[in-house]
Amino acid sequence: MSPTPPRRLRSQNWFDDPTHADMTALYVERFMNYGLTREELQSGRPIIGIAQTGSDLAPCNRHHIELAARTKAGIRDAGGIPMEFPVHPLAEQSRRPTAALDRNLAYLGLVEILHGYPLDGVVLTTGCDKTTPACLMAAATVDLPAIVLSGGPMLDGWFEGKRVGSGTVIWHARNLLATGEIDYEGFMRLTAAASPSIGHCNTMGTALSMNSLAEALGMSLPGCASIPAAYRERGQMAYATGKRIVDLVREDIRPSHILTREAFENAIVVASALGASTNCPPHLIAIARHIGVELSLDDWQRLGADVPLLANCMPAGEYLGEGFHRAGGVPAVLRQLAQAGLLHGECSTVSGSTIAEIVRQAPDADGDVIRSHAEPLKHGAGFIVLSGNFFDSAIMKMSVVGEAFRRAYLSEPGSENAFEARAVVFDGPEDYRARIDDPALGIDERCLLVMRGCGTLGYPGSAEVVNMAPPAELVKRGVTSLPCMGDGRQSGTSASPSILNMSPESAAGGGLSLMRTDDRVRVDLNARRVELLVDETELARRREEETAPSVPASQTPWQEIYRQFVGQLSTGGCLEPATLYLKVIETRGDP
Ligand code: FES
Ligand code: MG
Repeated sequence: MSPTPPRRLRSQNWFDDPTHADMTALYVERFMNYGLTREELQSGRPIIGIAQTGSDLAPCNRHHIELAARTKAGIRDAGGIPMEFPVHPLAEQSRRPTAALDRNLAYLGLVEILHGYPLDGVVLTTGCDKTTPACLMAAATVDLPAIVLSGGPMLDGWFEGKRVGSGTVIWHARNLLATGEIDYEGFMRLTAAASPSIGHCNTMGTALSMNSLAEALGMSLPGCASIPAAYRERGQMAYATGKRIVDLVREDIRPSHILTREAFENAIVVASALGASTNCPPHLIAIARHIGVELSLDDWQRLGADVPLLANCMPAGEYLGEGFHRAGGVPAVLRQLAQAGLLHGECSTVSGSTIAEIVRQAPDADGDVIRSHAEPLKHGAGFIVLSGNFFDSAIMKMSVVGEAFRRAYLSEPGSENAFEARAVVFDGPEDYRARIDDPALGIDERCLLVMRGCGTLGYPGSAEVVNMAPPAELVKRGVTSLPCMGDGRQSGTSASPSILNMSPESAAGGGLSLMRTDDRVRVDLNARRVELLVDETELARRREEETAPSVPASQTPWQEIYRQFVGQLSTGGCLEPATLYLKVIETRGDP
């Protein structure tokens, strides 16, 4: 029997098509001008893209520029040909008005590249918050063989003998600044100490959460997410990832084989056990929609809410990326969850092993940084999904609902897990900054701070601003946090027990637009309900006087286009028309 001839690769339609010699010549000659040979390009070897998210403008991912050398070595050693190309920068800490605006832009750009260029597979270099979902969303839409290479967290930050986590330190430092315990210089010194090396945030913020979920989904090699950026293992992981993508192309293993409904269910369970970022639900839902898997906030409630917290990482716990990695990272968490019967072990991963096989090799929980399922840090630590008489859905991260909050708000006699508060309403972050310290607002410890105008439409992209600090006067009296809610998001590094991502947002006609300062609001965590205690006649009157919600004008063409097509956070904040394009290469073909 003669062996089956190797599958014709899509890159050969560019580089080796004798029926279109003119076009082939054009494609081949310009790739030769920097040293590639015709022999290489026409050898039928897989052409592997490296989607480069690092640049001087994207410091959390910048070391991917150096890592690419190891990735390329792996690709070459496995018989492939690497081609590195840039992805639109997604820098969470510096992109104004918000990097969230660009997740969908980077997604769109990457889809066009993967579809329009001679690539057989792609290494997705991920790290900073939105880079992971943007890359996975694009790979999902196109359905080209793909593998995630995380950049890894920074080394642990230390200040005066204490661990300080990036992002998380800011929420603490701003209270110290408000009380005068530190000044501007002290603020800068303290916060900079949290970022001691290359890498993305070392807390279990959105970056480490989303890279961990990429691994839990099966899209990276086992152990990839947690290796600190500066460790030698990171370069070794880049090499192994480069080798593996060539096999994925040869075996024609595509994202749609990995990103199944069961894989997403696993990721939800893992997110809860990690105390993952509040940005994970919209990102995961967006990835699912682009691969054609139905996933909703109801799934987060049903599968995730009761899962215990196992990872003892900031902001819900005390350790950072290095500790998480040494304790076994994602595989160690998977092992605990699998033993408790909470995972689909049959899910395949890009490594070629199933989740069950990975779990068999994984270390046991160390009982400190990674807790066992039997002795978790906290029970019922996932997100709860709330609804109310003025909105359809919102999320709250239970792993950060601490004792202080329970004592202050959830322990009134006869109101188990519920409280009533006076609302103080802000229209966007500028309004909040301008007025929070205004004594006329009369803000005290029985107030609920409300932020609106910050959803995907209102503040295009949606702003991370709902975790509002109390007025400085209150902080000085020791009230360092107040309950908050709003239609925007909060940073994954925040430990604030806030009600977030309220959908529909006020700018989309959501009921938040009817709320006024001094309204009473009742929050019942057991019933997962938030009620605006204003009678119907008054609401009807407000509806009458309602004019168009005031939102800032678009500043750029992209903001204008984004606002025309984006959906709500509850459904992933996707560009809605883009979700109609599934498995582009298979269903629509090459250009
Ligand atoms: Fe980039 Fe946190 S700001 S990872
Ligand atoms: Mg963020």
